[in-house]
Amino acid sequence: MTPIHFAVALLLPFASAWPKYLPRASLTAPTATALPTIWVAGDSTTAPDGGHNGTQGWAEYLHYSFGSNAFVNNSAYAGRSARSFTREGRFDWIAEAMHPGDWVVIEFGINDGGTPLNGSTSTTGDKGRADCPGAGDETCTVVNATEIVHTFPWYVKAAASKFLSLGAAGIVISEQLPNNVWETGNYSYTPSRFSYYDLLSVEELRGPKSMVYFVQHGTYAAQAQKLLGLEVVDANYPMDHTHTAPFLADVHSQAFVLGLKCGTAPLADLVINATARIEMSRGPCLPANSTLPI
Ligand SMILES: *[C@@H]1O[C@H](CO)[C@@H](O)[C@H](O)[C@H]1NC(C)=O
Ligand SMILES: *[C@@H]1O[C@H](CO)[C@@H](O)[C@H](O)[C@H]1NC(C)=O
Ligand SMILES: *[C@@H]1O[C@H](CO)[C@@H](O)[C@H](O)[C@H]1NC(C)=O
Ligand SMILES: *[C@@H]1O[C@H](CO)[C@@H](O)[C@H](O)[C@H]1NC(C)=O
Ligand SMILES: *[C@@H]1O[C@H](CO)[C@@H](O)[C@H](O)[C@H]1NC(C)=O
Ligand SMILES: *[C@@H]1O[C@H](CO)[C@@H](O)[C@H](O)[C@H]1NC(C)=O
Ligand SMILES: *[C@@H]1O[C@H](CO)[C@@H](O)[C@H](O)[C@H]1NC(C)=O
Repeated sequence: MTPIHFAVALLLPFASAWPKYLPRASLTAPTATALPTIWVAGDSTTAPDGGHNGTQGWAEYLHYSFGSNAFVNNSAYAGRSARSFTREGRFDWIAEAMHPGDWVVIEFGINDGGTPLNGSTSTTGDKGRADCPGAGDETCTVVNATEIVHTFPWYVKAAASKFLSLGAAGIVISEQLPNNVWETGNYSYTPSRFSYYDLLSVEELRGPKSMVYFVQHGTYAAQAQKLLGLEVVDANYPMDHTHTAPFLADVHSQAFVLGLKCGTAPLADLVINATARIEMSRGPCLPANSTLPI
């Protein structure tokens, strides 16, 4: 036994006991933090200050459900689609700032519709945000713009793969929120095609086996709005049928957390609220089976 081996042999029993006696922070590198950050990418329904004029995005309330178990960085930005969030480097900024062990939530859809338009700039017409139609590797060429436009799943999968390669603990691909479900005077909710694209993206990334999870946020939010009733919901869409007053943004945050807790993502273990408690106010876990990658 060399002196070094001897020293290691001596130290090992103590090494295994260290975490019991040393504060957790002293075991991590100075630049790392023991608490994970939950990074949120999205549009105005998620973003700080929502769609402006007193509206708010749901991720502003997310930290209330994690207490001191995690930080939340709400990087969502009004007006963005999966395409324009990518083109403007917003996923890259998250990638540069995140640490291994962090989680990333990706929720787009409301600005992703339409077809890419030919034009001189990418801020006119479709505002440079419509994805190429389709669910696979199709591309669209936009005349006079230095951009090859990809499909919604392509952008979402590219971002998720990058975060996983950087050591993200996991990815949540979250279904877009509904508009006011009481808009017609009667309750009505149908998931959009982006809901299917979310599910497809999760499946193509190999789902929970690869730490990628689907949260049926839109469906849980619709359920919560149904329970609140027409008058409360109408009063919480002060500007249009998309952007929420703070109260409903908070409800939508709780609906996300419920969807998370009704699935298998380990991120749910950091939530401070009991599932049964959330179900009492926001409705029950949705029926599921082993084929749903939640
Ligand atoms: C937001 O408020 C400003 C100032 O009151 C107003 O000019 C603008 O039209 C409002 N925007 C919307 C979308 O309601
Ligand atoms: C949140 O993340 C963005 C990058 O998406 C970064 O620019 C910003 O400084 C972060 N905010 C905080 C409070 O750390
Ligand atoms: C844009 O221009 C390209 C190249 O000319 C063409 O292939 C494509 O169909 C055009 N797209 C639209 C939406 O007009
Ligand atoms: C592209 O740019 C050329 C030259 O500036 C212009 O003549 C043409 O109309 C533009 N095409 C589109 C679709 O904007
Ligand atoms: C709502 O549903 C009821 C019962 O089906 C129907 O009578 C009524 O016309 C509907 N109201 C609206 C605004 O669609
Ligand atoms: C969890 O509890 C906190 C503190 O009471 C509350 O602010 C938050 O909205 C709750 N979250 C859910 C999902 O009910
Ligand atoms: C599993 O649940 C999903 C969503 O409810 C449903 O579409 C699918 O048909 C179910 N699959 C099986 C095998 O029951």
